[in-house]
Formats: sequence, structure tokens, C-alpha cells
Amino acid sequence: MTVRRIIFVVATLAAVVLAFVPLIASERNPGVRDHHLDHALLMLLGAIAGFAAYRNDSGDESPAWVWAAVAPPIVAMLLMAPSLYAVVDTVPWLHVLDHLVFLALSMLTVYGGQRYVRGVGWASGLMLETMAVVAAFGYGVAPASVAAAAPLSVVASTHMVNGNSERGKQLFAQNCAVCHAAKGQGGVGPPLKGEASRKSVAQLEAWIKKPLPPMPTLYPKPLNDDDVTDIAAFVESMK
Ligand code: HEC
Repeated sequence: MTVRRIIFVVATLAAVVLAFVPLIASERNPGVRDHHLDHALLMLLGAIAGFAAYRNDSGDESPAWVWAAVAPPIVAMLLMAPSLYAVVDTVPWLHVLDHLVFLALSMLTVYGGQRYVRGVGWASGLMLETMAVVAAFGYGVAPASVAAAAPLSVVASTHMVNGNSERGKQLFAQNCAVCHAAKGQGGVGPPLKGEASRKSVAQLEAWIKKPLPPMPTLYPKPLNDDDVTDIAAFVESMK
């Protein structure tokens, strides 16, 4: 084993382990920034493996490899699209696959660059890595994921009651009943019976997402948009 091979194996193994994190820790839900940084680290490991895979002495440069240096970063960027993230993140297996694709792309970016003309791998690797880090700090890709989620909640709140109040009942018992009591009789928090006459579904959802203290904010964690819709449907049905 040459040093180069050892580096290749270690970097690849570390990256694969990192790629499987969504399956190992299924409930882990990092914020957008940490998530992009995870991807940046994954691609850094891939880039290192890509360098290690290239043999310094091979010297057989070939023009076609330029595509392997240029196309993968473009694909990686498309894969960072917020709308895709929203889907991929909810299915652990898909998420792992997404990571493995990122890994392959970063390896190819650097290896392809080196094969094209030695040294180009540094430039193409740097480009890919910069993109991932920059995305993590909110330039372009990251804030859009918030914007992409917003229209969904607007659609939900313009409908009348479209939540599942059965499910809402359970969620209410888990998250709200401590203060408002199981049937909304009230306790630490005010009674919620007849809330329908005070607030529309949309107003209820807005309140749950952004309540005034001392009521705690339970959105976006632990409650997501669907949860809030369902809870609002249940509260609206309280008589
Ligand atoms: C830690 C206690 C606590 C928890 C948990 C809690 N609330 Fe509240 N809630 C309050 C308090 C206190 C108020 C009164 C806040 C105010 O109006 O200043 C309130 C107010 C409200 C109101 C407004 C009532 C009105 O008409 O003015 C609604 C609706 C409501 N809560 C729903 C919920 C729902 C739904 C949940 C669960 C997702 C929840 N609350 C969880 C304490 C709590």
C-alpha cells in the first residue's frame, strides 16, 4: 500500500460513514447551515480521495476529462436546490443516496481535473468546496429553502379546515394539553373552547406558529407545518 492508496481508502471510508448518518441517526435534523456544512465536509473528503486516486506519474493528460471536472459541480449545485432538499431530507435512504452522489461527484471533479491537466483538480475542487460552504452561510441557496416552504403554508391557511383533526387531537394532547387541558378547558393557558368564534383557522395557525409569550413557540420544532394545520383543525372543532 502506498501512502496515496491509504489516503484514498481512509478518506473514502470516512466519507461513506458520513453519508450514512441520516440512516444511523434518523431523528437528527440539523439546520440548513449545518446540513450544508456536512455536505461540504463530505465533498472535501471526496476531493481528497479524488486527489489520492490520481497518480502523479501517470502524466497521460487528455482533453475529454475536462468534462469530468466541470459537469459534476454543476450537477452538485442543482442537487442543492431547496425544493429538492425538502423532499430528499424526509426520506433517509434517499438522503444517503444524495450524499453518495455528492461524494462521487466530488471525487470525479478533482480526479477529472487532474487527468485533464495536472493542477486543474485543485481549481475544480476549490470551486465545488466554495459552493458548498457559501451555500451554508446563506448565499443564494440556503434562504430560498425558507421561501420555498412558505407558499405551502399559505396554501394551507387559505383553505378552510383542511387539517386532520383526529391527528390534531393527539398532537394537542402531547403539546398543548399541559397548559390548555385535554379538552381545552384551560389551565395555565386560557380556555380554548369556542376558539372558532375568536380566530379563523388561518389566524389559529399563525398564532400557534408565532404565539405571544408566555405561550411557548413550538414551531418549526417540534411541530411542523402539517402538525400545526392538524392541531388548528382540532382546536377549531372544540365546543
Ligand atoms: C407552557 C404553556 C402553554 C403551552 C404548552 C401552550 N400554550 Fe397556548 N397559551 C398559553 C398562554 C399562557 C396563553 C395566553 C397568551 C396571551 O394571550 O398572552 C396561550 C394562548 C393560546 C391561544 C390564544 C387564545 C386566545 O384566544 O387569545 C391559543 C389559540 C393557544 N394558546 C393554543 C395553543 C396550542 C394549539 C398549543 C399547542 C400547540 C398551545 N397553545 C400550547 C400557554 C401555553
